[in-house]
Amino acid sequence: MMLTASSSTKEVRTNRRKFLKASGLAAVASKGLGAAANALGVNPAARTGSGGARVTVVMDEPAGQINRNVLGQFAEHLGACVYGGMWVGPKSSIPNTDGLRNDTIAALKRIHAPIIRWPGGCFADLYHWRDGIGPRSKRPTTWNLWWGREEPNSFGTDEYMEYCRLCGASPYICVNVGSGSVREAIDWMEYCNSSHSTTIAQERLANGHAAPYNVTYWSIGNENWGCGGAFTPENYADHYARYVNYLSRAAGGAKVEFVACGNEAGDWNQRFFEALLRRPAGRGILRTVRQLSIHHYFHDGAAVNFSDQGYYSLLAQVGFLEDVLRRVIGAVDEFREPNALAPGIALDEWGVWHPVPGQGPEALLQPNTLRDALLAATTLNSLCNFGSRVSMACIAQVFNVLQCMAFTRGARMVLTPTYYVFDLFHPHMGATALRTVVESSSYEVKEGHQHVARKYLSASASLDESRKRACLTLVNQHLTDAFDVEIELAAGAAVAGATVRQLTSASVRDQNTFDHPNGVVATDPKRVSVTGRRFTQTLPAHSLQSLLLELE
Ligand code: AHR
Repeated sequence: MMLTASSSTKEVRTNRRKFLKASGLAAVASKGLGAAANALGVNPAARTGSGGARVTVVMDEPAGQINRNVLGQFAEHLGACVYGGMWVGPKSSIPNTDGLRNDTIAALKRIHAPIIRWPGGCFADLYHWRDGIGPRSKRPTTWNLWWGREEPNSFGTDEYMEYCRLCGASPYICVNVGSGSVREAIDWMEYCNSSHSTTIAQERLANGHAAPYNVTYWSIGNENWGCGGAFTPENYADHYARYVNYLSRAAGGAKVEFVACGNEAGDWNQRFFEALLRRPAGRGILRTVRQLSIHHYFHDGAAVNFSDQGYYSLLAQVGFLEDVLRRVIGAVDEFREPNALAPGIALDEWGVWHPVPGQGPEALLQPNTLRDALLAATTLNSLCNFGSRVSMACIAQVFNVLQCMAFTRGARMVLTPTYYVFDLFHPHMGATALRTVVESSSYEVKEGHQHVARKYLSASASLDESRKRACLTLVNQHLTDAFDVEIELAAGAAVAGATVRQLTSASVRDQNTFDHPNGVVATDPKRVSVTGRRFTQTLPAHSLQSLLLELE
Protein backbone atom coordinates (compact mmCIF):
# COMPACT_ATOMS: atom_id res chain seq x y z
CA MET A 1 0.00 0.00 0.00
CA MET A 2 1.29 3.44 -0.88
CA LEU A 3 0.78 6.61 1.07
CA THR A 4 0.21 9.43 -1.35
CA ALA A 5 -0.78 13.01 -0.75
CA SER A 6 -3.94 12.76 -2.85
CA SER A 7 -6.74 14.41 -0.94
CA SER A 8 -9.92 12.76 0.19
CA THR A 9 -10.95 15.86 2.11
CA LYS A 10 -14.00 16.48 -0.10
CA GLU A 11 -15.24 12.94 0.47
CA VAL A 12 -14.72 13.38 4.22
CA ARG A 13 -16.72 16.63 4.24
CA THR A 14 -19.66 15.13 2.32
CA ASN A 15 -19.85 12.11 4.59
CA ARG A 16 -19.51 14.34 7.63
CA ARG A 17 -22.54 16.41 6.55
CA LYS A 18 -24.59 13.24 6.01
CA PHE A 19 -23.59 11.89 9.41
CA LEU A 20 -24.34 15.10 11.30
CA LYS A 21 -27.78 15.28 9.73
CA ALA A 22 -28.59 11.69 10.57
CA SER A 23 -27.30 11.83 14.15
CA GLY A 24 -28.80 15.20 15.05
CA LEU A 25 -25.36 16.54 15.98
CA ALA A 26 -25.44 19.31 13.42
CA ALA A 27 -26.55 21.89 15.99
CA VAL A 28 -23.70 21.11 18.35
CA ALA A 29 -21.18 21.00 15.55
CA SER A 30 -22.21 24.23 13.90
CA LYS A 31 -22.88 26.35 16.97
CA GLY A 32 -19.84 25.00 18.78
CA LEU A 33 -20.76 26.04 22.29
CA GLY A 34 -24.24 25.49 23.64
CA ALA A 35 -25.79 27.21 26.63
CA ALA A 36 -23.62 29.08 29.10
CA ALA A 37 -21.71 26.94 31.58
CA ASN A 38 -23.15 26.68 35.04
CA ALA A 39 -21.43 27.95 38.18
CA LEU A 40 -19.54 24.68 38.57
CA GLY A 41 -17.88 25.18 35.23
CA VAL A 42 -19.32 22.15 33.43
CA ASN A 43 -22.54 22.44 31.51
CA PRO A 44 -24.60 19.31 32.11
CA ALA A 45 -27.06 20.31 29.39
CA ALA A 46 -24.28 19.99 26.89
CA ARG A 47 -23.71 16.45 28.13
CA THR A 48 -27.10 15.12 27.18
CA GLY A 49 -28.02 13.44 23.93
CA SER A 50 -24.64 11.84 23.46
CA GLY A 51 -26.06 9.54 20.76
CA GLY A 52 -23.55 8.36 18.21
CA ALA A 53 -20.13 9.44 17.21
CA ARG A 54 -18.05 9.11 14.14
CA VAL A 55 -14.38 8.83 13.30
CA THR A 56 -13.08 9.15 9.79
CA VAL A 57 -9.55 7.94 9.30
CA VAL A 58 -8.06 9.71 6.31
CA MET A 59 -5.79 6.93 5.13
CA ASP A 60 -4.03 9.01 2.47
CA GLU A 61 -3.16 11.99 4.67
CA PRO A 62 -0.06 10.95 6.62
CA ALA A 63 1.16 13.33 9.31
CA GLY A 64 4.66 11.98 9.79
CA GLN A 65 6.02 9.20 11.93
CA ILE A 66 4.93 8.81 15.54
CA ASN A 67 8.26 8.70 17.31
CA ARG A 68 8.66 5.62 19.51
CA ASN A 69 9.94 7.91 22.24
CA VAL A 70 6.50 9.46 22.63
CA LEU A 71 5.76 6.59 25.01
CA GLY A 72 8.80 7.46 27.12
CA GLN A 73 9.33 7.36 30.87
CA PHE A 74 10.99 9.68 33.37
CA ALA A 75 12.90 8.59 36.48
CA GLU A 76 14.18 11.06 39.05
CA HIS A 77 15.90 10.64 42.39
CA LEU A 78 12.71 11.68 44.12
CA GLY A 79 10.65 9.84 46.75
CA ALA A 80 10.65 6.11 46.01
CA CYS A 81 11.04 6.34 42.24
CA VAL A 82 14.62 5.10 42.04
CA TYR A 83 15.17 3.70 45.56
CA GLY A 84 12.33 1.20 45.90
CA GLY A 85 11.05 1.33 42.33
CA MET A 86 14.22 0.58 40.37
CA TRP A 87 16.94 -0.21 42.88
CA VAL A 88 16.71 -2.52 45.90
CA GLY A 89 20.39 -3.49 46.20
CA PRO A 90 22.03 -6.86 45.50
CA LYS A 91 21.54 -8.09 49.08
CA SER A 92 17.77 -7.52 49.03
CA SER A 93 15.36 -10.43 49.38
CA ILE A 94 13.31 -8.74 46.64
CA PRO A 95 14.17 -10.52 43.37
CA ASN A 96 16.80 -8.44 41.61
CA THR A 97 19.58 -8.49 39.06
CA ASP A 98 22.67 -6.97 40.65
CA GLY A 99 20.43 -4.77 42.77
CA LEU A 100 18.00 -3.80 39.98
CA ARG A 101 14.41 -4.76 40.65
CA ASN A 102 13.26 -7.62 38.38
CA ASP A 103 9.51 -7.04 38.49
CA THR A 104 9.63 -3.38 37.46
CA ILE A 105 12.09 -4.21 34.67
CA ALA A 106 9.72 -6.92 33.40
CA ALA A 107 6.79 -4.49 33.58
CA LEU A 108 8.59 -1.89 31.44
CA LYS A 109 9.77 -4.55 29.02
CA ARG A 110 6.19 -5.70 28.50
CA ILE A 111 5.11 -2.24 27.36
CA HIS A 112 8.25 -1.79 25.24
CA ALA A 113 9.31 1.35 27.15
CA PRO A 114 11.40 3.13 24.51
CA ILE A 115 13.37 5.64 26.60
CA ILE A 116 13.94 6.54 30.26
CA ARG A 117 14.96 10.10 31.14
CA TRP A 118 17.29 10.39 34.18
CA PRO A 119 18.45 11.60 36.79
CA GLY A 120 15.93 14.47 36.95
CA GLY A 121 14.07 16.79 36.99
CA CYS A 122 15.24 19.37 39.47
CA PHE A 123 17.62 16.76 40.89
CA ALA A 124 19.62 16.78 37.63
CA ASP A 125 20.93 20.29 38.20
CA LEU A 126 22.45 19.33 41.52
CA TYR A 127 23.68 15.87 40.54
CA HIS A 128 27.41 15.23 40.29
CA TRP A 129 27.80 12.03 38.32
CA ARG A 130 31.13 11.10 39.92
CA ASP A 131 29.30 10.57 43.23
CA GLY A 132 27.51 7.63 41.60
CA ILE A 133 30.30 5.52 40.06
CA GLY A 134 32.83 3.03 41.41
CA PRO A 135 32.56 0.77 44.47
CA ARG A 136 29.27 1.51 46.24
CA SER A 137 30.81 1.36 49.69
CA LYS A 138 32.99 4.32 48.76
CA ARG A 139 30.27 6.51 47.28
CA PRO A 140 29.31 9.57 49.32
CA THR A 141 25.93 10.09 50.94
CA THR A 142 24.66 13.48 49.86
CA TRP A 143 21.56 15.51 50.63
CA ASN A 144 18.86 15.76 47.98
CA LEU A 145 18.17 19.48 48.25
CA TRP A 146 15.01 19.41 46.20
CA TRP A 147 13.21 16.40 47.52
CA GLY A 148 14.42 16.29 51.13
CA ARG A 149 16.05 12.92 51.58
CA GLU A 150 19.49 11.36 51.85
CA GLU A 151 20.98 10.28 48.56
CA PRO A 152 23.08 7.12 48.97
CA ASN A 153 24.32 7.33 45.36
CA SER A 154 24.00 3.51 45.07
CA PHE A 155 22.16 3.97 41.78
CA GLY A 156 24.44 5.88 39.42
CA THR A 157 25.38 5.90 35.76
CA ASP A 158 26.32 2.22 35.43
CA GLU A 159 23.23 1.02 37.32
CA TYR A 160 21.03 3.27 35.20
CA MET A 161 22.57 2.02 31.96
CA GLU A 162 22.07 -1.56 33.05
CA TYR A 163 18.46 -0.90 34.03
CA CYS A 164 17.81 0.61 30.58
CA ARG A 165 19.54 -2.30 28.87
CA LEU A 166 17.49 -4.87 30.75
CA CYS A 167 14.26 -3.02 29.84
CA GLY A 168 15.31 -2.52 26.22
CA ALA A 169 15.00 1.28 26.62
CA SER A 170 17.31 4.03 25.38
CA PRO A 171 19.04 6.14 28.01
CA TYR A 172 18.42 9.89 28.06
CA ILE A 173 20.71 11.89 30.35
CA CYS A 174 20.02 15.35 31.68
CA VAL A 175 23.29 17.13 32.49
CA ASN A 176 23.85 19.53 35.37
CA VAL A 177 23.88 23.14 34.19
CA GLY A 178 22.56 24.85 37.33
CA SER A 179 25.26 23.76 39.79
CA GLY A 180 27.63 21.79 37.57
CA SER A 181 30.27 22.63 35.01
CA VAL A 182 30.99 22.10 31.34
CA ARG A 183 34.07 20.09 32.34
CA GLU A 184 31.92 17.75 34.42
CA ALA A 185 29.51 17.23 31.51
CA ILE A 186 32.35 16.55 29.05
CA ASP A 187 33.78 13.94 31.42
CA TRP A 188 30.37 12.33 31.86
CA MET A 189 29.94 12.04 28.12
CA GLU A 190 33.44 10.64 27.81
CA TYR A 191 32.69 8.08 30.54
CA CYS A 192 29.53 7.02 28.71
CA ASN A 193 30.53 7.16 25.07
CA SER A 194 34.29 7.08 24.61
CA SER A 195 36.03 4.08 23.08
CA HIS A 196 39.50 5.63 23.51
CA SER A 197 41.96 4.46 26.12
CA THR A 198 41.68 7.66 28.13
CA THR A 199 41.76 7.47 31.90
CA ILE A 200 38.01 8.17 32.09
CA ALA A 201 37.10 5.50 29.52
CA GLN A 202 39.39 3.11 31.41
CA GLU A 203 37.52 3.97 34.59
CA ARG A 204 34.32 2.69 32.97
CA LEU A 205 36.20 -0.48 32.06
CA ALA A 206 37.42 -0.82 35.66
CA ASN A 207 33.82 -0.46 36.78
CA GLY A 208 32.94 -3.48 34.68
CA HIS A 209 31.72 -1.92 31.42
CA ALA A 210 34.15 -2.30 28.57
CA ALA A 211 31.86 -1.23 25.73
CA PRO A 212 30.79 2.40 25.44
CA TYR A 213 27.14 3.04 26.21
CA ASN A 214 26.70 5.28 23.15
CA VAL A 215 24.11 7.52 24.77
CA THR A 216 22.32 9.48 22.04
CA TYR A 217 20.04 11.82 23.98
CA TRP A 218 21.51 14.57 26.18
CA SER A 219 19.53 17.42 27.59
CA ILE A 220 21.33 20.56 28.58
CA GLY A 221 19.83 21.14 32.01
CA ASN A 222 16.29 20.89 33.30
CA GLU A 223 13.78 23.71 33.74
CA ASN A 224 16.63 26.23 33.70
CA TRP A 225 14.09 29.03 33.93
CA GLY A 226 13.24 27.64 37.41
CA CYS A 227 14.88 25.00 39.62
CA GLY A 228 17.72 24.52 37.11
CA GLY A 229 19.39 27.84 37.83
CA ALA A 230 16.63 30.46 37.45
CA PHE A 231 18.24 31.83 34.29
CA THR A 232 16.84 34.30 31.81
CA PRO A 233 16.54 32.82 28.30
CA GLU A 234 19.53 34.94 27.27
CA ASN A 235 21.69 33.61 30.16
CA TYR A 236 20.57 30.08 29.36
CA ALA A 237 21.41 30.52 25.66
CA ASP A 238 25.00 31.36 26.67
CA HIS A 239 25.21 28.28 28.89
CA TYR A 240 23.61 26.09 26.23
CA ALA A 241 26.09 27.28 23.59
CA ARG A 242 29.07 26.74 25.90
CA TYR A 243 27.98 23.21 26.87
CA VAL A 244 27.19 22.18 23.31
CA ASN A 245 30.37 23.70 21.91
CA TYR A 246 32.34 21.12 23.90
CA LEU A 247 29.89 18.26 24.13
CA SER A 248 29.49 18.02 20.37
CA ARG A 249 33.25 17.37 20.22
CA ALA A 250 33.22 15.01 23.20
CA ALA A 251 30.62 12.81 21.51
CA GLY A 252 33.47 10.78 20.03
CA GLY A 253 31.78 9.84 16.78
CA ALA A 254 28.66 8.52 18.50
CA LYS A 255 25.36 9.91 17.31
CA VAL A 256 24.33 12.56 19.81
CA GLU A 257 21.19 14.68 19.98
CA PHE A 258 20.96 17.73 22.18
CA VAL A 259 17.73 18.72 23.87
CA ALA A 260 17.53 22.37 24.86
CA CYS A 261 15.42 23.64 27.72
CA GLY A 262 12.31 25.39 26.49
CA ASN A 263 9.28 26.66 28.31
CA GLU A 264 5.60 26.05 27.69
CA ALA A 265 4.73 29.61 28.70
CA GLY A 266 5.72 33.18 27.89
CA ASP A 267 8.33 34.21 25.34
CA TRP A 268 11.21 32.07 26.65
CA ASN A 269 11.51 30.00 23.46
CA GLN A 270 11.66 32.98 21.11
CA ARG A 271 14.13 34.84 23.33
CA PHE A 272 16.30 31.74 23.65
CA PHE A 273 16.46 31.24 19.87
CA GLU A 274 17.08 34.96 19.27
CA ALA A 275 19.92 34.93 21.80
CA LEU A 276 21.49 31.90 20.10
CA LEU A 277 21.32 33.67 16.76
CA ARG A 278 23.10 36.73 18.14
CA ARG A 279 26.12 34.60 19.04
CA PRO A 280 29.08 34.09 16.66
CA ALA A 281 28.11 31.21 14.36
CA GLY A 282 24.55 31.64 15.61
CA ARG A 283 22.95 29.56 12.87
CA GLY A 284 25.41 26.77 13.52
CA ILE A 285 24.59 26.64 17.20
CA LEU A 286 20.86 26.90 16.51
CA ARG A 287 21.16 23.80 14.33
CA THR A 288 22.45 21.81 17.30
CA VAL A 289 19.05 22.10 19.01
CA ARG A 290 17.53 18.84 17.82
CA GLN A 291 14.73 18.87 20.37
CA LEU A 292 13.21 21.55 22.55
CA SER A 293 12.01 20.40 25.95
CA ILE A 294 8.79 21.57 27.55
CA HIS A 295 6.99 20.25 30.63
CA HIS A 296 3.28 20.15 31.26
CA TYR A 297 1.51 19.05 34.43
CA PHE A 298 -2.26 18.79 34.83
CA HIS A 299 -3.72 19.88 38.17
CA ASP A 300 -7.31 19.57 39.28
CA GLY A 301 -8.03 19.07 42.98
CA ALA A 302 -8.54 15.72 44.68
CA ALA A 303 -6.93 12.55 43.36
CA VAL A 304 -9.80 10.14 44.11
CA ASN A 305 -12.74 11.95 45.71
CA PHE A 306 -13.27 14.33 42.83
CA SER A 307 -16.67 15.48 41.64
CA ASP A 308 -18.14 14.61 38.25
CA GLN A 309 -17.33 18.16 37.28
CA GLY A 310 -13.74 17.60 38.41
CA TYR A 311 -13.62 14.54 36.17
CA TYR A 312 -14.54 16.55 33.08
CA SER A 313 -12.50 19.62 33.94
CA LEU A 314 -9.33 17.52 34.27
CA LEU A 315 -9.85 15.75 30.94
CA ALA A 316 -10.67 19.04 29.25
CA GLN A 317 -7.19 20.29 30.08
CA VAL A 318 -5.73 18.19 27.27
CA GLY A 319 -7.13 20.85 24.94
CA PHE A 320 -4.97 23.45 26.68
CA LEU A 321 -1.92 21.25 26.24
CA GLU A 322 -2.72 21.14 22.51
CA ASP A 323 -2.76 24.96 22.48
CA VAL A 324 0.62 24.96 24.24
CA LEU A 325 2.06 22.55 21.68
CA ARG A 326 0.77 24.64 18.79
CA ARG A 327 2.38 27.76 20.29
CA VAL A 328 5.72 26.02 20.87
CA ILE A 329 5.70 24.55 17.35
CA GLY A 330 4.98 28.09 16.08
CA ALA A 331 8.05 29.43 17.91
CA VAL A 332 10.24 26.64 16.57
CA ASP A 333 9.02 27.26 13.02
CA GLU A 334 9.72 30.97 13.28
CA PHE A 335 13.43 30.23 13.63
CA ARG A 336 13.59 27.26 11.29
CA GLU A 337 15.86 27.57 8.27
CA PRO A 338 14.26 26.99 4.88
CA ASN A 339 14.28 23.26 4.09
CA ALA A 340 15.84 22.39 7.45
CA LEU A 341 14.41 19.87 9.82
CA ALA A 342 12.70 21.68 12.68
CA PRO A 343 13.65 20.67 16.22
CA GLY A 344 11.17 18.18 17.64
CA ILE A 345 9.17 19.02 20.71
CA ALA A 346 10.28 16.91 23.69
CA LEU A 347 7.50 16.89 26.24
CA ASP A 348 9.95 15.22 28.58
CA GLU A 349 7.84 15.65 31.72
CA TRP A 350 4.08 15.37 31.68
CA GLY A 351 1.26 13.91 33.71
CA VAL A 352 -1.27 14.70 36.42
CA TRP A 353 0.02 16.17 39.68
CA HIS A 354 -2.38 15.70 42.59
CA PRO A 355 -2.00 17.60 45.88
CA VAL A 356 0.36 15.35 47.91
CA PRO A 357 3.42 16.08 50.11
CA GLY A 358 6.59 16.75 48.15
CA GLN A 359 9.40 15.79 50.52
CA GLY A 360 11.00 12.64 51.91
CA PRO A 361 11.02 8.95 50.97
CA GLU A 362 7.39 8.98 49.84
CA ALA A 363 7.40 12.38 48.15
CA LEU A 364 4.80 12.89 45.42
CA LEU A 365 3.32 9.43 45.94
CA GLN A 366 -0.25 9.81 44.71
CA PRO A 367 -3.18 7.53 43.85
CA ASN A 368 -3.82 6.68 40.22
CA THR A 369 -7.42 6.21 39.09
CA LEU A 370 -9.17 5.36 35.86
CA ARG A 371 -9.71 9.13 35.43
CA ASP A 372 -5.92 9.59 35.34
CA ALA A 373 -5.61 6.76 32.82
CA LEU A 374 -8.22 8.34 30.52
CA LEU A 375 -6.36 11.64 30.82
CA ALA A 376 -3.17 9.85 29.74
CA ALA A 377 -4.98 8.17 26.84
CA THR A 378 -6.50 11.46 25.65
CA THR A 379 -3.09 13.14 25.92
CA LEU A 380 -1.39 10.35 23.96
CA ASN A 381 -4.06 10.61 21.27
CA SER A 382 -3.23 14.30 20.94
CA LEU A 383 0.51 13.65 20.85
CA CYS A 384 0.04 11.03 18.12
CA ASN A 385 -2.08 13.51 16.18
CA PHE A 386 0.87 15.94 16.16
CA GLY A 387 2.72 13.27 14.17
CA SER A 388 6.43 13.85 13.78
CA ARG A 389 6.38 17.29 15.46
CA VAL A 390 6.45 15.73 18.92
CA SER A 391 9.72 13.86 19.09
CA MET A 392 9.53 12.58 22.63
CA ALA A 393 7.29 12.52 25.68
CA CYS A 394 8.23 11.14 29.10
CA ILE A 395 5.50 10.62 31.64
CA ALA A 396 6.33 11.76 35.17
CA GLN A 397 7.37 9.52 36.75
CA VAL A 398 7.96 5.86 36.16
CA PHE A 399 7.45 4.40 39.70
CA ASN A 400 5.90 5.59 42.96
CA VAL A 401 5.93 9.27 41.97
CA LEU A 402 3.15 11.36 40.34
CA GLN A 403 1.38 9.58 37.44
CA CYS A 404 3.43 6.42 37.69
CA MET A 405 3.34 3.06 35.93
CA ALA A 406 3.50 1.02 39.13
CA PHE A 407 3.64 1.23 42.90
CA THR A 408 6.06 -0.90 44.85
CA ARG A 409 5.84 -1.81 48.52
CA GLY A 410 8.45 -4.24 49.79
CA ALA A 411 8.41 -7.18 47.42
CA ARG A 412 5.00 -6.32 45.96
CA MET A 413 4.26 -4.34 42.83
CA VAL A 414 0.92 -3.03 41.60
CA LEU A 415 0.44 -1.79 38.05
CA THR A 416 -1.58 1.42 37.77
CA PRO A 417 -4.47 2.03 35.33
CA THR A 418 -2.10 4.40 33.48
CA TYR A 419 0.31 1.50 32.86
CA TYR A 420 -2.33 -0.24 30.75
CA VAL A 421 -2.78 2.85 28.60
CA PHE A 422 0.85 2.60 27.56
CA ASP A 423 0.28 -1.07 26.80
CA LEU A 424 -2.69 -0.26 24.56
CA PHE A 425 -0.89 2.55 22.71
CA HIS A 426 2.16 0.50 21.90
CA PRO A 427 1.10 -0.38 18.28
CA HIS A 428 1.35 3.34 17.39
CA MET A 429 5.08 3.38 18.15
CA GLY A 430 7.05 4.16 15.01
CA ALA A 431 3.95 3.98 12.79
CA THR A 432 2.73 6.73 10.47
CA ALA A 433 0.20 9.11 12.01
CA LEU A 434 -2.99 9.44 9.97
CA ARG A 435 -5.36 12.38 10.07
CA THR A 436 -8.64 11.63 11.82
CA VAL A 437 -11.88 13.61 11.74
CA VAL A 438 -13.81 13.13 14.97
CA GLU A 439 -17.48 13.98 15.34
CA SER A 440 -19.21 13.60 18.67
CA SER A 441 -21.31 15.60 21.07
CA SER A 442 -19.39 17.72 23.50
CA TYR A 443 -19.34 19.13 27.02
CA GLU A 444 -18.40 22.58 28.14
CA VAL A 445 -15.90 23.68 30.72
CA LYS A 446 -15.17 27.09 32.08
CA GLU A 447 -11.62 28.33 31.80
CA GLY A 448 -11.29 31.71 33.48
CA HIS A 449 -14.04 33.78 31.90
CA GLN A 450 -14.25 31.63 28.83
CA HIS A 451 -16.37 28.62 28.01
CA VAL A 452 -14.76 25.97 25.90
CA ALA A 453 -16.30 22.90 24.30
CA ARG A 454 -14.57 19.54 24.36
CA LYS A 455 -15.66 16.46 22.44
CA TYR A 456 -16.45 13.35 24.44
CA LEU A 457 -14.63 11.26 21.91
CA SER A 458 -10.90 11.47 21.36
CA ALA A 459 -9.08 9.45 18.70
CA SER A 460 -5.81 8.88 16.94
CA ALA A 461 -4.87 6.53 14.15
CA SER A 462 -1.68 5.21 12.63
CA LEU A 463 -0.59 2.99 9.80
CA ASP A 464 2.14 0.38 9.95
CA GLU A 465 2.67 -0.37 6.28
CA SER A 466 5.17 -3.16 6.80
CA ARG A 467 2.67 -5.08 8.92
CA LYS A 468 -0.32 -4.04 6.78
CA ARG A 469 -1.94 -2.88 9.97
CA ALA A 470 -3.65 0.24 11.25
CA CYS A 471 -4.20 1.12 14.89
CA LEU A 472 -7.01 3.26 16.20
CA THR A 473 -7.14 4.36 19.83
CA LEU A 474 -10.49 5.73 20.97
CA VAL A 475 -11.44 7.31 24.29
CA ASN A 476 -15.07 7.78 25.27
CA GLN A 477 -14.89 10.32 28.08
CA HIS A 478 -18.63 10.26 28.74
CA LEU A 479 -19.23 9.38 32.39
CA THR A 480 -22.48 7.48 31.86
CA ASP A 481 -23.18 6.86 28.17
CA ALA A 482 -21.80 4.28 25.80
CA PHE A 483 -21.17 5.43 22.22
CA ASP A 484 -21.75 3.60 18.99
CA VAL A 485 -18.85 4.92 16.99
CA GLU A 486 -19.18 4.76 13.23
CA ILE A 487 -15.68 4.28 11.86
CA GLU A 488 -14.80 4.94 8.27
CA LEU A 489 -11.52 4.47 6.49
CA ALA A 490 -11.48 7.13 3.80
CA ALA A 491 -9.29 6.02 0.89
CA GLY A 492 -6.66 3.31 1.24
CA ALA A 493 -7.17 -0.35 1.97
CA ALA A 494 -10.19 -1.98 3.57
CA VAL A 495 -10.21 -3.95 6.81
CA ALA A 496 -10.02 -7.75 6.65
CA GLY A 497 -10.25 -8.41 10.39
CA ALA A 498 -9.54 -6.77 13.71
CA THR A 499 -8.81 -7.22 17.39
CA VAL A 500 -9.71 -4.92 20.23
CA ARG A 501 -8.35 -4.30 23.72
CA GLN A 502 -10.20 -2.24 26.27
CA LEU A 503 -9.58 -0.41 29.52
CA THR A 504 -12.48 0.61 31.74
CA SER A 505 -14.02 -0.07 35.13
CA ALA A 506 -17.30 0.48 36.98
CA SER A 507 -16.22 3.90 38.23
CA VAL A 508 -13.70 6.47 37.05
CA ARG A 509 -12.60 6.66 40.69
CA ASP A 510 -11.47 3.02 40.64
CA GLN A 511 -7.80 2.31 41.18
CA ASN A 512 -5.46 -0.61 41.79
CA THR A 513 -4.26 -1.04 45.36
CA PHE A 514 -2.10 -3.60 47.14
CA ASP A 515 -5.31 -5.18 48.49
CA HIS A 516 -7.05 -5.08 45.08
CA PRO A 517 -4.28 -5.03 42.51
CA ASN A 518 -6.50 -5.95 39.55
CA GLY A 519 -9.33 -3.44 39.90
CA VAL A 520 -8.58 -1.70 36.61
CA VAL A 521 -6.81 -3.83 34.01
CA ALA A 522 -6.80 -3.98 30.22
CA THR A 523 -8.52 -6.86 28.50
CA ASP A 524 -6.56 -9.28 26.33
CA PRO A 525 -6.93 -8.86 22.56
CA LYS A 526 -10.34 -10.06 21.39
CA ARG A 527 -11.35 -10.62 17.78
CA VAL A 528 -14.13 -8.41 16.48
CA SER A 529 -16.00 -9.06 13.27
CA VAL A 530 -15.35 -5.96 11.23
CA THR A 531 -14.61 -5.84 7.54
CA GLY A 532 -14.65 -3.31 4.74
CA ARG A 533 -14.21 0.43 5.04
CA ARG A 534 -17.11 1.27 7.30
CA PHE A 535 -18.12 -0.37 10.56
CA THR A 536 -19.48 0.44 13.99
CA GLN A 537 -17.76 -0.14 17.29
CA THR A 538 -19.39 0.29 20.69
CA LEU A 539 -17.38 2.10 23.34
CA PRO A 540 -18.62 1.77 26.92
CA ALA A 541 -18.85 4.92 29.05
CA HIS A 542 -15.46 6.18 30.33
CA SER A 543 -13.37 3.72 28.37
CA LEU A 544 -10.35 3.39 26.13
CA GLN A 545 -10.22 0.98 23.23
CA SER A 546 -7.30 0.11 21.03
CA LEU A 547 -8.35 -1.41 17.71
CA LEU A 548 -5.82 -3.22 15.55
CA LEU A 549 -7.11 -3.34 12.01
CA GLU A 550 -5.66 -5.91 9.63
CA LEU A 551 -5.67 -4.37 6.18
CA GLU A 552 -6.37 -6.16 2.92
O1 AHR B 1 8.57 15.71 38.31
C1 AHR B 1 8.73 16.50 39.45
C2 AHR B 1 9.41 17.83 39.17
O2 AHR B 1 8.58 18.60 38.36
C3 AHR B 1 10.71 17.77 38.40
O3 AHR B 1 11.80 17.54 39.22
C4 AHR B 1 10.78 19.13 37.78
O4 AHR B 1 11.51 19.14 36.59
C5 AHR B 1 9.33 19.51 37.59
O5 AHR B 1 9.08 20.80 38.01
